[in-house]
Amino acid sequence: MEYVVTTRDLTRSFGGFVAVDRLNIRIERGEIYGFLGPNGAGKSTTIRMLCGILQPTSGTGTVLGYDLIRETEKIKSKIGYMSQKFSLYDDLSVWENLNFYAGIYNVPGKERKKRVEEMIAMAQLTGREDELAANLSGGWKQRLALGCAIIARPSILFLDEPTSGVSPTSRRMFFNKGG
Ligand SMILES: Nc1ncnc2c1ncn2[C@@H]1O[C@H](COP(=O)(O)OP(=O)(O)O)[C@@H](O)[C@H]1O
Ligand SMILES: [Mg+2]
Repeated sequence: MEYVVTTRDLTRSFGGFVAVDRLNIRIERGEIYGFLGPNGAGKSTTIRMLCGILQPTSGTGTVLGYDLIRETEKIKSKIGYMSQKFSLYDDLSVWENLNFYAGIYNVPGKERKKRVEEMIAMAQLTGREDELAANLSGGWKQRLALGCAIIARPSILFLDEPTSGVSPTSRRMFFNKGG
């Protein structure tokens, strides 16, 4: 069996408070895996450790075979991450946000324009290319943020409550397009 995520006793404390307590999971390639739990359960903290953004306090793990503690830069270059807060640049347009993310994720220069156009079509943002991200409503921002998260065709996509606070219609559209 090929596992794209494994953890062994993965733990994260903040001061004396244990936010994630000895988590053991295995996720297979192709699997859709969800964390359920109330606010404060440790879902976001877990995702941040799996993305290589937050160091565990103890325990170990791998993402795409890379070590969660020693190979975080490798992990970051291979994953997509859409955080609970929007990670868009308000003063850049739709097109500029996508082009910027293509740049930081090292999409080859000659492919960038095509990829940006693909993401605009996927997110149904055609005609809004020049609108500033700041002026988009919640549902449109989420579509754009999804486009930014997958423009580099990541092997794994981490979504942290990507549709909290948007309408049921936007939510349905998001998950249909995200598959
Ligand atoms: N940077 C931090 N500093 C201190 N406490 C934190 C920090 N990040 C998260 N926590 C605490 O860890 C717990 C888990 O938070 P979180 O992972 O955001 O939960 P969830 O995403 O399931 O709502 C909460 O009690 C939160 O207050
Ligand atoms: Mg959270």
